[in-house]
Amino acid sequence: MYWNESIETLNTAELQDLQLQRLRDTVRRAAHSPFYGERLRQAGVTPENIKSLEDLRRIPFTTKDDLRAHGKEMLTVPLTDIVRVHASSGTSGQATEIYYTKEDINAWAELVARSMYMTGMRPADVFQNMMGYGLFTGGLGFHYGAERLGALTIPAGAGNSRRQIQLMQQFKTTALHIIPSYALYLLQTFDKAGVDPRSLNLRLAFIGAEPHTEEMRGRIEAAYGVKAYNSYGLSEMNGPGVAFECPEQNGMHVWEDAFLLEVADPRTLEPAAPGELGELVFTNLTRRGMPILRYRTRDLASYDPQPCSCGRAHRRISRIQGRSDDMLIVKGVNIFPIQIEKILLAMPEVYTNYLVELTRENFNDVLHVKVEVQEAFFHEGLKSLQHLQKRLTEALKSELLVTPKVELVEPHTLPQSEGKAVRVVDRRE
Ligand code: COA
Ligand code: AMP
Ligand code: ZN
Repeated sequence: MYWNESIETLNTAELQDLQLQRLRDTVRRAAHSPFYGERLRQAGVTPENIKSLEDLRRIPFTTKDDLRAHGKEMLTVPLTDIVRVHASSGTSGQATEIYYTKEDINAWAELVARSMYMTGMRPADVFQNMMGYGLFTGGLGFHYGAERLGALTIPAGAGNSRRQIQLMQQFKTTALHIIPSYALYLLQTFDKAGVDPRSLNLRLAFIGAEPHTEEMRGRIEAAYGVKAYNSYGLSEMNGPGVAFECPEQNGMHVWEDAFLLEVADPRTLEPAAPGELGELVFTNLTRRGMPILRYRTRDLASYDPQPCSCGRAHRRISRIQGRSDDMLIVKGVNIFPIQIEKILLAMPEVYTNYLVELTRENFNDVLHVKVEVQEAFFHEGLKSLQHLQKRLTEALKSELLVTPKVELVEPHTLPQSEGKAVRVVDRRE
């Protein structure tokens, strides 16, 4: 039932002792990096003067902007000791780069293996990983975890719907890692192929990377004949394997031996009470190459301090209820509106006034981008406009990693940006 029984069954007091010791070690390591060396010095924080977990609050928060501005300055080891980099979202300075040593990769794989084992996955399972490989953490993170667990692992990657079904048939897949909206979208491909997912060997699904409802989980479980478990993680804290549901399916256990959890009111940044919605803040407790302290995730959730009937005291968080910033998740890919602005700014044929509309058509996310064409260019004829639309689509796809539907509109027909114009309308369920 447990992958790492001694750690998974620690009681709250034992967990806190371990966390305190690891927090001191982490602060000691972090101080070797130029970024935290300076931050911690300014805050007067040393490993020795961390007397209790309360002292965590003397350490300043780390934000995504810190990571964008100082990424490599957070390294505690020479670059030659780094073996992997991951990055989340596009390329225009919005991506955050996360660096891993060999030890970090192993520790991450352990956490993912522990998470999957908790749900009942075993070495005899056949695991099909349908997340994006490449710089996304979902692909390689789960891949290494599944191999560590000992399951036959199919690196299917995202997309290629027909082939996904063929792979499930060919290898008798029993466990899936899949984005929840795509799991529902894929049902149409099953339908067209005349295959009932319930007739295959599937029994488990790990769903995550985007917010989803209990109802969506229910639909996935019914259509595929599986138990579906919510999986939460973010690149800044390795990737997947930060919090995961147990067989109780009643909140996600945060692996508190590896991550120190805080839930903070996003306005005051004061601690939120149990059950109260707040922003998740995490501190790495075991990472070597690039430990991050008090990272403001911008993900909104609440926590439940009650031990779970599965025997684990690691606290549980609710589903992610939203974000406290303007980041969008489209087809499992993180997008910031500023990325769209940067692309438009580089195109002299359009104004920078734009409107983004998100819809879900047949469970597939659609990113509509409406852009105003410059007065002079608007009259150049249909061919030029079509060409412009194509170029814009390609430039946006290359930046955002998802293909938008670009709609060119007449000049001065979109709402003007007076103060903070509403540029994003999310019409997804
Ligand atoms: N996951 C996996 N595949 C997806 C998907 C998703 N969320 N959304 C769409 N697809 C499939 C489509 O069905 C299509 O395959 P098909 O034509 O064989 O059915 C293929 O991907 C391309 O679809 P399209 O809508 O043209 O995609 P796009 O160009 O807008 O985006 C993706 C390309 C899907 C590859 C990209 O959005 C992606 O990699 N998503 C997964 C991200 C991920 O793994 N996140 C985890 C982060 S930890
Ligand atoms: P990335 O850093 O690219 O791995 O993206 C991490 C972000 O994806 C998180 O901060 C969340 O906003 C989102 N995310 C990941 N897992 C989940 C999940 N299970 N439910 C809701 N959102 C999720
Ligand atoms: Zn539990």
